[in-house]
Amino acid sequence: PKIVTVKTAADVAEYTADVFAAAIKSNPKIVLGLATGSSPIGCYQRLVERSRGGEFSFAQATSFNLDEYIGLDADHPQSFRHFMQSQLFDLIDIRPSNTFVPDGKCPDVAKHVANYELKITEAGGIEIQLLGIGTNGHIAFNEPGSAADSRTREVSLTRQTIESNSRFFPSIADVPTTAITMGIGTILEAKQIVLIATGAGKAKAVAEAIEGPMTIDCPASLLQSHPNVIFVVDQAAGSGLT
Ligand code: F6R
Repeated sequence: PKIVTVKTAADVAEYTADVFAAAIKSNPKIVLGLATGSSPIGCYQRLVERSRGGEFSFAQATSFNLDEYIGLDADHPQSFRHFMQSQLFDLIDIRPSNTFVPDGKCPDVAKHVANYELKITEAGGIEIQLLGIGTNGHIAFNEPGSAADSRTREVSLTRQTIESNSRFFPSIADVPTTAITMGIGTILEAKQIVLIATGAGKAKAVAEAIEGPMTIDCPASLLQSHPNVIFVVDQAAGSGLT
């Protein structure tokens, strides 16, 4: 993998926005893979500013998000659909019907996940996928132990992830315990992958992902098999790298 170590979280956002802006400019009909969480916020802010400044347009783009909690309505403040609307989609010219986020309230999860995979395929596959990384090495909601060839499916969240995400909910009991996530196999089919990480809390996961063995115990380490992956980390997140 290519490893880009920059100084600060703002530099990670800037670098990543540059990569995405270049990709959108070279293919306005791009199919983007998007992530939620704190890591992508700075990148989204820059993409919003730059597209509003006229540098490029999302009008012909399509996006697929990695994951969504099961049980939360689209307009629940902690749903990933709500996050995407408020951080990105409502602020740019992407067509609402071209934005796909798994539906946490779908009546038939098995049918929904199969259809989600189908839609990605019909769109021509994901050209560039943005990823964060969990402190336990998870990517999307593929927790340790997820199969390398896993597809979009329903998963149970680990205690560690529930605890870590509880900071956004009134109490830990309010955090959903299940989610829909793209699989590792689904993610690995993206033509390019950009994983971003900031802060010392990610240093161990980043080091294991890049320098550790490829193992399902650290889902992000499975990215080592991908031919076109960039890890963009700030100094703190990269501090465990040799
Ligand atoms: C979000 C996602 C998660 C996060 C990861 C890191 O769509 O799939 O895997 O990328 O939990 O989260 P943050 O960026 O909040 O540290």
